Parts: sequence; C-alpha cells; structure tokens
Amino acid sequence: MTIRVLAAATLSSAVLFPAAARRPVLERAPAEYVSRPNPYQLEASAAKAGEKIYERECSSCHGDHGQGLRGPALNSPAVRRAAPGALFWVLRNGSLRAGMPSFSHLPEPQRWQVITYLKTISDQGR
Ligand code: HEC
Repeated sequence: MTIRVLAAATLSSAVLFPAAARRPVLERAPAEYVSRPNPYQLEASAAKAGEKIYERECSSCHGDHGQGLRGPALNSPAVRRAAPGALFWVLRNGSLRAGMPSFSHLPEPQRWQVITYLKTISDQGR
C-alpha cells in the first residue's frame, strides 16, 4: 500500500514536471543566475581561499580533489562547461532531494571563491 502510494506520487511528479525530473541540477539554473559573472574569476588568491572552503564544506561528499565520493565528481566536463552563475545557483539552492545541501549560509564572496577553485580543478585532467 505504502509502496503503491509512493509510486503514484513519483509518477505524478514525473508527469507534472517531466523536464525537472530528468535534467541535471546544473541545467536547472534560471537564466538570471546563469548570466551572473564571478567577481573573482581567475584570481589566484580567490582560488586559494576557495580551496580551503572546499576542503571544509565539500570534500566529504565530492572527494579531496573533486574526484567524487558520496556526491558526483566536480572535476568533470559538466562543471568545466557550467556557467559560474549556474554553479552559484546550485550552491545557493542545493539539490535537496538528491542530497546536495544548500550553502546559502556561506557569505556570497565565499561561494564565488569556491567556484573559482572548482574551475581550477576542472581545467586540469579530463
Ligand atoms: C552531503 C553531501 C554533499 C556536500 C557536503 C556537498 N555536496 Fe555537492 N552534491 C551532492 C550530491 C548528492 C549532488 C548531486 C545532486 C543532483 O544530482 O541533483 C551534488 C551536486 C553538486 C554539483 C552539481 C554537479 C553536477 O555535475 O551536476 C555541484 C557543482 C556541487 N554539488 C558543488 C558542491 C560544493 C561546491 C560543495 C561545498 C560548498 C558541495 N557541493 C557540498 C552532495 C554534496
């Protein structure tokens, strides 16, 4: 019975929001976020600060160097291609049902610093 109710709920949300159910979280960022520039883009000092924040806040799920652990790899083509503003939106909102927390409690400059760092790891390798 419970299973049937859950299945029905999942089915109806997939019917109501088919695109949202399928699309990766980075592709769900609204245009007004996607167009926001990173004020610290390519700044080495910001990348360094971002690395520290990454180690503290992100590495337990995304791995010490973004290789992925409980969460997906971040040294990936998807992150390399993503607009900084889309990454910013993901940090603000998380992807709660999938287990990615919101980091809206971090001051905005810290969130941009992490994004600057992510672009340095995703520019290497793959
Ligand atoms: C508790 C575990 C956890 C922590 C901590 C966490 N994440 Fe995540 N993150 C996830 C999961 C799970 C996903 C997959 C979400 C989805 O598929 O919708 C994810 C997805 C992402 C994505 C999208 C990746 C993609 O290719 O779709 C980015 C970017 C991201 N996280 C960045 C971060 C950053 C930066 C931090 C630290 C500030 C962080 N995450 C902390 C679990 C975590």
